[in-house]
Amino acid sequence: MSDSTQPTLDNLLSEERTFPPSAEFAARSNAHAEIYSWAASDRLSFWAEQARAMLDWSTPFTQVLDWSDAPVARWFADGRLNACENAVDRHVAAGRGDRVALLFEGEPGDTREITYADLQREVSKAANALQTLGVGTGDRVAIYLPMIPEAVVAMLACARIGAVHSVVFGGFSAEALRSRIDDAEASLVITADGGYRRGNPSALKPAVDEALAPGDEHDACRTVQHVLVVRRTGQAVDWVEGRDVWWHEAVGAASDQHTPVQVEAEHPLFILYTSGTTGKPKGIFHTTGGYLTQAAYTHLNVFDLKPETDVYWCTADIGWITGHSYVTYGPLVNGATQVIYEGTPDTPHQGRWWDIVQKYRVSILYTAPTAIRTFMKWGEQIPAGYDLSSLRVLGSVGEPINPEAWMWYRRVIGGDRAPIVDTWWQTETGAIMISPLPGITATKPGSAQAPLPGISAEVVDEMAEPVPNGSGGYLVLTEPWPSMLRGIWGDPQRFRDTYWSRFPGLYFAGDGAKKDADGDIWLLGRVDDVMNVSGHRLSTTEIESALVSHPMVAEAAVVGAADQTTGQAVVAFVILRAEFRDRIDEVGEGGDVAAELRAHVTKEIGPIAKPRTILVVPELPKTRSGKIMRRLLRDVAEHRTVGDVTTLADSSVMGQIAAGLGSS
Ligand code: PRX
Repeated sequence: MSDSTQPTLDNLLSEERTFPPSAEFAARSNAHAEIYSWAASDRLSFWAEQARAMLDWSTPFTQVLDWSDAPVARWFADGRLNACENAVDRHVAAGRGDRVALLFEGEPGDTREITYADLQREVSKAANALQTLGVGTGDRVAIYLPMIPEAVVAMLACARIGAVHSVVFGGFSAEALRSRIDDAEASLVITADGGYRRGNPSALKPAVDEALAPGDEHDACRTVQHVLVVRRTGQAVDWVEGRDVWWHEAVGAASDQHTPVQVEAEHPLFILYTSGTTGKPKGIFHTTGGYLTQAAYTHLNVFDLKPETDVYWCTADIGWITGHSYVTYGPLVNGATQVIYEGTPDTPHQGRWWDIVQKYRVSILYTAPTAIRTFMKWGEQIPAGYDLSSLRVLGSVGEPINPEAWMWYRRVIGGDRAPIVDTWWQTETGAIMISPLPGITATKPGSAQAPLPGISAEVVDEMAEPVPNGSGGYLVLTEPWPSMLRGIWGDPQRFRDTYWSRFPGLYFAGDGAKKDADGDIWLLGRVDDVMNVSGHRLSTTEIESALVSHPMVAEAAVVGAADQTTGQAVVAFVILRAEFRDRIDEVGEGGDVAAELRAHVTKEIGPIAKPRTILVVPELPKTRSGKIMRRLLRDVAEHRTVGDVTTLADSSVMGQIAAGLGSS
C-alpha cells in the first residue's frame, strides 16, 4: 500500500507493517507482558490491586465488584476517598509539592507555572468559596470555561466538596448550555468573561446570561443561585447583582485551608453530556473510585508515564471526556507535569503546537487524528522547523486514524522513534479500553489492536456470536470495568435501552469493528446515527431538530459524509416550507439561505455542529414506513452512485434530488 492511498476498508485491513518497541523503550517500560496474563487469570483481584496502587483510600474497600444490579455496576463500594485529595494533596504530603503540575500557555503567550503545592492552595480556596456560595455535597455545578488553569481548579474544587461537576464545552451555545443546566438542575455556574480564540478575546459570559434569562420552558433560571466568573480577558460583562460573583473576589478571599470531604466510592463525580441517536443529549454520569482507578491506571501504562521526568500534553479541552480523564484526573492522580494550552493550533502561526513541544520539552503528546491530518495539510516543513526530539510517546484518540496519518505522525512528529498508541474509548467507558501498550505491543498503523489488561472486548455478529479473525461486526464489551458509566442522569431506562438491549448482557458501544488475521481490532466508525466530526460526537437527529426549528425549514435530514480532514463532515438536506420557496435562488453554496441555516444551527448547538454543506431538495428519500434512508443521502453527499432504491416509498425521489442538485 502506498502512503498516499486513501483509507478504504480493504487497504485498512491489509495493513501488515508492525512497529515493535525498541529494546531500550521496552526495558524501561512501566508495564511488562505478564500484565496481560495476570489480569486474565483473576480480573477482579487485578483491579483491586490497581485501585490500591493508584489511589489513597481513607476507608479501604473490602468489596471489589457488585454486579447484582446489572447493568449498574458498583466497584469498591464500601471504600471511601476524595478525588481531589488523590489528585493534589497526597503529592504534597509525600514531599512532591514543588513539582510542577500545570504548565499553562495562554493563547496570547502569557504563561503560568503551577506546582502541586500551589494547586492545593488554589483548590482549597475554591472549595471554601463554593461552600460559602451554598454548594453542598451532591449538588451539581455547571462549568463553562476556556482552557485555563481555573477550569481544572473548578473541577477539582467540586470533587473536593463532593459536588458533581457538569462541564459544558465553551464552544457550545447558550441554548445547549441551558438544556444541560436544566437537566442536571445545577445550582452554580462557573464561567469566565471570555477566553482567547484565534487571536481575539471571545466572550463566554453573555451565553450564560442568555441561558439563565427568565423563561417559562426551563428551570435554569430557577435552579441556579450564583454565577462565579473568572476574569480572563478583562472584557466588559453584564452583571446580575446578587447572582454574579467574581472568582478573584470570592476565591481570593477564601482560606487556603480546606479538609476534603470523604465520599463513598460510588458517589457521583461528574456528569458529562454527549450526543446519542436522539435529539436530547445524554448526561453520562461517572462515580469516584472505579473511575479514578482506571483513569490513573491507563494513563500510567498506556502513555508509559514517568512522573518525575515526563512532560505530558493532552490537547483536549476539558469540555470533552478526554479532558476529564487525561487532563484533570489521570495525570494529576499520577503526579504528572502537564502542559495546558488555551488556544488554536494556528494562532499566531501554524507552528504553535510544535513551538510548545520544543519550549516545554513535551515528551508525551496525546491528540486527535483530525489535528494530525490538518498538520499534514499544512505541510511537514512546519514541524520540521522545531526540535521535537523530546517526544517519546504519541497518542491518538477520538476517531479512527487512517494508516497514512498514523505513518505521518510517527515519521514527522515522532522522528520514527516514538511509539504511537491508538486509544479507543468513549465518554461512557470513562477511560481507555482498547489500545497498544507502548513498551509491549508491536503497533500497527491504524489499529487500536487489543483490549487493555483487565478489559474484555469482542467483535460480534448480529446474533452476538464472536466473529472469526478476518471478519467484521459490532464492538461489544463483555465484562464490567471500573470506569464504566453508572447511568444516564435522571433516565435509568434510557441507559438500559441504549447500551444493553441490542445484545442482552453485553455493552454495545455503537461502533463497527473488524478483527484482522492476528485477531487485532480495527475500529470502523459508528453504526448508528451518531457522526464523528473532528473527533467530536454529534447526533444527526440533534442537528435535524435544530434545522427544523427554523421557520424556513419543513423537513431536514442530516448525514455524516467522509471528509479528508475532519473524518466526517455534516451534510444537511432540507426541504423549505412552501412560503419560502421563492428564496430558492439564494440556495446554492454560499447563498443566503444556507448561511442563515448555518447560523441557526450554530445558535442552537454551537459552531461544531454547523453543516459543511446544506442542500435544498424537493423531497427526502423515505421508506414506506416513513424512515429517512440516510444511506442514500450519504451516497449523494459522498458523490457516489446512489445505492439500492427499491425500498423507497417513491423511487423517483432520488432522481428529483439529483436533478435539483444539478441546478443549484
Ligand atoms: O466511534 C468511536 C470514536 O469516538 C466515539 C466516542 O466518542 P466520545 O464519547 O466523544 O469520546 C471520544 C474520546 C474518547 C467512539 O464510539 N472513537 C474514539 N476513539 C477512537 C474512536 N474510533 C476509532 N478509533 C479510536 N481510537
